[in-house]
Amino acid sequence: MNPHVTNAKLEPPSNWDRSGLPYWTYFNEELFELEAEELFRKHWQIACHTSDIPKKGSYITFDLVGERALIIRDDENEIRAFHNVCRHRGSRVLDTSEGRCKSVIRCPFHGWSYNLDGSLRGAAKANSFPALEHRKWGLKPLEMEIWRGFVFIRFKPGPQPSVANLLDRLEDEVSRYNHVELLQTAPIDCSSSGNVNWKSIRDVDNEGYHVARAHPSLNDLYGKNYYDEPFVNGVSRSIAPFNEGSGKLWSVIHYKKMIDQFTSPHNELPRAWLYIGIFPNFVLGFYPDVVTFYQEIPFSVKETAIRSSTYKRADENRTMRLARYLSERIDATAIAEDWHLSIMWNEGMKSSANTGIILSDLEYGVRTHHDALREILPVMNHEIEPTRGTLLERNNSAQNLPPNKA
Ligand code: FES
Ligand SMILES: [Fe+2]
Repeated sequence: MNPHVTNAKLEPPSNWDRSGLPYWTYFNEELFELEAEELFRKHWQIACHTSDIPKKGSYITFDLVGERALIIRDDENEIRAFHNVCRHRGSRVLDTSEGRCKSVIRCPFHGWSYNLDGSLRGAAKANSFPALEHRKWGLKPLEMEIWRGFVFIRFKPGPQPSVANLLDRLEDEVSRYNHVELLQTAPIDCSSSGNVNWKSIRDVDNEGYHVARAHPSLNDLYGKNYYDEPFVNGVSRSIAPFNEGSGKLWSVIHYKKMIDQFTSPHNELPRAWLYIGIFPNFVLGFYPDVVTFYQEIPFSVKETAIRSSTYKRADENRTMRLARYLSERIDATAIAEDWHLSIMWNEGMKSSANTGIILSDLEYGVRTHHDALREILPVMNHEIEPTRGTLLERNNSAQNLPPNKA
């Protein structure tokens, strides 16, 4: 057993409710609107790593449930976050997902320009407007927090504490990865999407029970040792110490060989993959060779994309680069397998034969994620789908009822 890895076992209580969310919650468009408002706009979202925007004027953008975020490094090297919404008529001011502005942000619609600190520099044909105060008509700022090199934003105030506070109990464990100093390996990717509700993807990701059967490469790497801790205060931890021995699959054998050749200080990192789940929709992954994130981006109740990126160590050498190549290969296989499982799980809910599920103790993380969802949106306790137009009212009237009694 790896001496650096500890499992703080958090067992499910006896007689815990092993049923999942009612299936209607995966297909209901009114509920999706509530999720957009109460979950996605009001909870922290990972935006990028500081290394994604390394120079003055470097930026990334991303959209989520109708909102648009813009993270940019200004002239003073400060990182700033804004709504990517022009103050003239609401166009995107930057319409690529990453890039660099020289010294000005210029809206592609009518050409209003903004300084890198968000203030209005000038309207095109300014004399066709009354006088515009440059601060007042600047880009609207977004709430932002940088935690150990990662940039988080929130579209609206919400129930979570600061990111630092949220992740406080894991600070010691993850600080050894020194992720302030990481470097971008490629632009953040948001190109894979599928016809699946975002919760079905999260349900698959929130348990490791399926690893042994569904992920041959992960099973070869760590299958016997994988352990999920449930969500506690909106954060989960899953730890996957590598199996003893050399492995069976080519990529796993060579990945472990590379890891064994790491030198100080990287050989002091745990021989394990560590995943930190952050409610409601993203995960940070800490591996000996890389740090990574992945995040569900719902486009609608039935279509979701995954936004993800991988970061390397600033002092990466050839061995570490090879290890990174191999871990990306192992991960890519698992991601494709998980897409397939998520779609099968989502589709299976429509079958008349599928009248309910039973969760294993090894799937307790799924339940704790559902509990967190129910706490914010108690209408999810209703076994029967509310009739059209009544969902909001039923959610509000259920606010004060205990779980499963709404
Ligand atoms: S919408 Fe941006 S300049 Fe008109
Ligand atoms: Fe999986």
